Amino acid sequence: MKRIGVLTSGGDSPGMNAAIRAVVRKAIYHDIEVYGIYYGYSGLIAGEIKKMELGSVGDIIHRGGTMLYTARCEEFKTLEGQMKGIAQLKKFGIEGLVVIGGDGSFRGAQKLTAQGFPTIGVPGTIDNDIPGTDFTIGFDTALNTVIDAIDKIRDTATSHERTYVIEVMGRDAGDLALWSGLADGAETIIIPEADYDMDEIIGRLNRGQERGKKHSIIIVAEGVGSGIEFGKRISDATGTETRVTVLGHIQRGGSPTGMDRVLASRLGAKAVDLLIEGKAGVTVGIQKNELVYHDIDEVLSKGRCVDLDLYRLSQELSI
Ligand code: F6P
Repeated sequence: MKRIGVLTSGGDSPGMNAAIRAVVRKAIYHDIEVYGIYYGYSGLIAGEIKKMELGSVGDIIHRGGTMLYTARCEEFKTLEGQMKGIAQLKKFGIEGLVVIGGDGSFRGAQKLTAQGFPTIGVPGTIDNDIPGTDFTIGFDTALNTVIDAIDKIRDTATSHERTYVIEVMGRDAGDLALWSGLADGAETIIIPEADYDMDEIIGRLNRGQERGKKHSIIIVAEGVGSGIEFGKRISDATGTETRVTVLGHIQRGGSPTGMDRVLASRLGAKAVDLLIEGKAGVTVGIQKNELVYHDIDEVLSKGRCVDLDLYRLSQELSI
């Protein structure tokens, strides 16, 4: 392998820059040229491709976002779009591709591999919803952003003796809600992977009030429904003054944590190693602190569930 490409696609996540840096530096270390593909699969189709040097990735390890920019690309879901992408890769003499992103991005990588183009997936998403890895790049940073926001909301919730409903991101996944709720001692955590009983939640809030509890924090994962709706139902049922905060895209930005920078560096470098070994159609990950890789078809055919033991613990600790 003499020349590889790297792109980021889908929702960005803090640490993607560190992963790009690792791919570029590891490849150059092995005398392999690297081309950066801008704007994800859209840029691949359009040929927005430039050679990267050691200096191209200087001063980015600590920055959120992605220096290669990103996009969600409908055209790449079609065979025609995929063939245009492969034609561009061939035009630039690129022999292997590293795709950094979430499950949508991995589906693109899967299609490229099926068309005979060697591709490796690196999991980058704040949602932490990719099978085959315990953690995705960006999750730890987003988790800490959410924790910081909840801590601040808790201050004002205490002062005003209010109930707060906080909606956190995660599309169909409850990891961000569960981990932040556990880390912040939230009274209630509502995630798509576990059934909830509104009467039970309201009963718990009422019991808390009876024993003198003056404020409550309820975390709702966006995959369950609108935090605003939850807030209304809770305030109607309990008669407490309730406020809702939808944290939104603030969760996707910011300087990556040390954990995310190290994870991204390890996974990006591993993807290059795998291309050198002649592997294709796999995704890299970390499980029990060991670097691993799995067949991309297998990864995409599985659903990933939150750690239900952690969910049970959160319930036990919030009685
Ligand atoms: O997948 C990451 C994510 O931030 C999800 O948590 C969220 O549902 C989605 O992306 C939002 O996407 P967009 O930025 O396109 O609105």
